[in-house]
Amino acid sequence: MGVARRVGKLAAWPVRRLLDPRFADVNRHVAINRQVVHDEGQATRVAVGSLTENVDQVVGTYAATSTESLTFVGAELRGLERAVSGLEEQLGGRIDRLAAATEERGYVERLNRLARGGTIADLDGAVAELLNYGASHRGFAAQAELWLNPAITVEHREGEVRLGQVNERIVEIPFVLRALGRVPLGARILDFGSSENALALSLATLGYEVTALDLRHYPFAHPSLTAAASPLERWPDPEEPFDAVLCVSTVEHVGLGWYGEGRAASGADRQAMERLRGLLVAGGLCVLTVPYGSWSVDEVQRRYDRAHLDALVAGWEVLERLVAERRDDRTWVPVEESHGHAVAMLVLQAPASA
Ligand SMILES: C[S@@+](CC[C@H](N)C(=O)[O-])C[C@H]1O[C@@H](n2cnc3c(N)ncnc32)[C@H](O)[C@@H]1O
Repeated sequence: MGVARRVGKLAAWPVRRLLDPRFADVNRHVAINRQVVHDEGQATRVAVGSLTENVDQVVGTYAATSTESLTFVGAELRGLERAVSGLEEQLGGRIDRLAAATEERGYVERLNRLARGGTIADLDGAVAELLNYGASHRGFAAQAELWLNPAITVEHREGEVRLGQVNERIVEIPFVLRALGRVPLGARILDFGSSENALALSLATLGYEVTALDLRHYPFAHPSLTAAASPLERWPDPEEPFDAVLCVSTVEHVGLGWYGEGRAASGADRQAMERLRGLLVAGGLCVLTVPYGSWSVDEVQRRYDRAHLDALVAGWEVLERLVAERRDDRTWVPVEESHGHAVAMLVLQAPASA
């Protein structure tokens, strides 16, 4: 068979197959199968559709439930977290309070042991500081006007007690007592600026008739002691003059306002010396001590040099003059003259007649 005839036969095959009785059966089966395939395809599509729907529903329900569960779990966790941190806070506070109470109890017991026979080795920093404060010019005794300025201070430190400073009282008080050798027992003495010193009480105890005059209350009493709380400038003249006045570390403060008395015009120190002279019998004595060195004035006190000291005691006869200089925190030595940190001590005499 030629090629052209074979191609023509092949092209006519679909038509020929329909017309050819040999293929009638085949064609029927094909038609039936096609229907079956069609029907089954349809059924499968329906099944797949409903399956998809079911899956969607199941997944949707599951997702909703999961979200709800997660939200619930989250809320529960947050609640739990809050409860735990509240508990932590409560517990922390209680533990802190308990620790503080225990520490306090321990410390109080320690203080009690210290107060009933403690040793230097028991001193801690806080107790040392308390003791130093208590002994200072701002401490509890000072607040009750019972502080006496000691010539020698003692310093407390942790596990240590040591010598602090030696101040000018170490030489001023013996100078006063020595100078009073010129004044017989029973004489009338005025201690001007008497606070912070037991000198007036001591002299009364020794047998002098003493008046203690100060802006501040003098805390001691004695049958031979009269105390007056007043500024010298406004103190009324006493009925009887004095045989001697003491002015220990006082006139350098007068009129500067340091003791709350209000500031006066310059020259208040010289006026005070004149007033003291007026309170004495003719030829009466004044024992005076002042800071000495280079001239200076600050809010607390004056420091006199030679010229200012001479001006201060103008009108008095100088019977005795001694200068003691501070060499270091603990040492004072007598010197002829000083331009450093010193104290001048004088025995003065009022004119024999006015
Ligand atoms: C350094 S203090 C005490 C000195 C004391 N004589 C001593 O030996 O420690 C000086 C005192 O002078 C007193 N004073 C200062 N100006 C005064 C004034 N115008 N009249 C009375 N007292 C005064 C103060 O009140 C203070 O107590």
